[in-house]
Amino acid sequence: MDNYAVFGNPIEQSKSPEIHSIFAKQTKQKLNYVKILGSLEKFSDSLEAFFSDPSAKGCNVTAPFKQDAAKWVSSLSESAKFGEAVNTIIKQEDGSFTGDNTDGVGLVTDILTNGVEIKNASILLLGAGGAARGVLKDIAAQSPSNIVIANRTAAKAEALASLLPFAKVQGMELSHRSFDSIAGHFDIIINSTSASLSSELPDVPDTTISQASMVYDMVYGKQLSKFLQHAKKLGVPKTIDGLGMLVEQASESFHLWRGVRPDTSEVVKKLREQF
Ligand code: ATR
Repeated sequence: MDNYAVFGNPIEQSKSPEIHSIFAKQTKQKLNYVKILGSLEKFSDSLEAFFSDPSAKGCNVTAPFKQDAAKWVSSLSESAKFGEAVNTIIKQEDGSFTGDNTDGVGLVTDILTNGVEIKNASILLLGAGGAARGVLKDIAAQSPSNIVIANRTAAKAEALASLLPFAKVQGMELSHRSFDSIAGHFDIIINSTSASLSSELPDVPDTTISQASMVYDMVYGKQLSKFLQHAKKLGVPKTIDGLGMLVEQASESFHLWRGVRPDTSEVVKKLREQF
């Protein structure tokens, strides 16, 4: 049987084995998928040990190893190259390893599935860390009217914006003050900061939030994040957490490995019921 795994540290919390085992059942694919605690000292040892077994065909990689994985593989997809991060490794027939990043496709698919167009929309991306970088290229590929990247540390937002050969992207400081100098409104606000993990609200004016048709937070859990609760209170019609993105990125990985696309809606529903 073909073997797959997800590497992270910590890894106990990962829902990927459950997601992929439902995908495998749905699509009648015979495979094993397990979680493995990666080595913080030498992550390449963890990958090499796993792939020394010929039945190992691919793996997912999560925090804090996505950058290490990008250095380890033999070649990178365009998304992985742009993000300098790999969340999916595919073992090729010739024994080489391809690194891809399915996070951006996962996010885009989930936004579209929730009935919101990205094409011609004005996007506000909060955060300029690894999570933002991992999705930026795929968002831009949907031809939004413009993207503003707002980050606590303005220089990081500006550096990230400058990576895109796309005129209508700009970086700025994430603060009330900077929103005063920005004209117009945003249709979609995406929170990629880790503020939600510590129950903090990113510094965005209520008037900016209330004009959005969708506010998306990449984190997920039993309760809506403080940011999504706040957006809901302000009357934003769609407040979406990152559970759909998690399942969609997994589905994209599954497709890369097995060539078939599972039904993600059933899996999202099942995971939601477990919270
Ligand atoms: P990740 O891989 O999850 O993106 P990261 O690369 O460490 O993690 O980036 C964390 C992001 O969350 C950064 O954009 C960070 O802002 P800074 O670059 O200014 O540090 C942002 N962040 C973390 N805590 C935040 C908070 N309380 N308010 C606003 N932004 C926050």
